[in-house]
Amino acid sequence: MSESLERLQKVIAQSGITSRRKAEQFILDGRVKVNDEVTTVLGTKVSLKDKIVVDGVPLEKEAPVYYMLYKPKGVISSVKDDKNRKVVMDYLAGIDERVFPIGRLDYDTSGLILLTNDGEFAHLLMHPKHEIKKVYMAKIKGIPSKKELSRLRKGVISNNERLKAIDYNIVSTDKKANSTVLEITLHEGKNRHVKRMMEQLGYPVLKLKREKYGMLTLKGLKTGTYRELTPYEVKQMRNMANQNVKQ
Ligand code: URA
Repeated sequence: MSESLERLQKVIAQSGITSRRKAEQFILDGRVKVNDEVTTVLGTKVSLKDKIVVDGVPLEKEAPVYYMLYKPKGVISSVKDDKNRKVVMDYLAGIDERVFPIGRLDYDTSGLILLTNDGEFAHLLMHPKHEIKKVYMAKIKGIPSKKELSRLRKGVISNNERLKAIDYNIVSTDKKANSTVLEITLHEGKNRHVKRMMEQLGYPVLKLKREKYGMLTLKGLKTGTYRELTPYEVKQMRNMANQNVKQ
């Protein structure tokens, strides 16, 4: 953020503590002080010079940062784990900012995960209406027919939820090992989305990796390594999310 004026709820969301909508509620609930005065006015303009305190805790004004990590399997997609298992943050030990993962990958799923301290950016990418494409490579048990796979586009029901893929491709089949590798593209990311969808078809997932998030790929990264996104990539991701909003 520069010296320019920004709306208070945006600044709170950018600090990563909550979404913009919840920040608005914090303001309405009288939990936010600007320069030692409680303000309940949405849209109050603030600059870097203003002291903002939420629930008695001053906001840290870190510059926003954006990373992608090639998460290995056997790692939790969170900042801390009470059972002391490895977490994604263990792989970003070299960075000073307080980042958090954008969404999650299962413990045994590997692949591309984004981390940021920009709550607003995270919110933008995660909202299903923004339809950011995520591409997964799934090794499944069995060899499904094209007809069986065609159910993925319509969606299958699991725990009262419709789980859909927007696209899929058979990458390879191994008759001897009785397994298939599928490339599956999703717009959403419901809990265990790919695994539940494939279980419902009767072809359980043996191995899962996220290869793409929007236009971002794992190119150049080895498992367990990370890199910063370029400003151009951040801008492209923002544009992509904003373009996909259905009116
Ligand atoms: N779908 C899953 O089943 N698991 C993941 O980690 C991501 C998508």
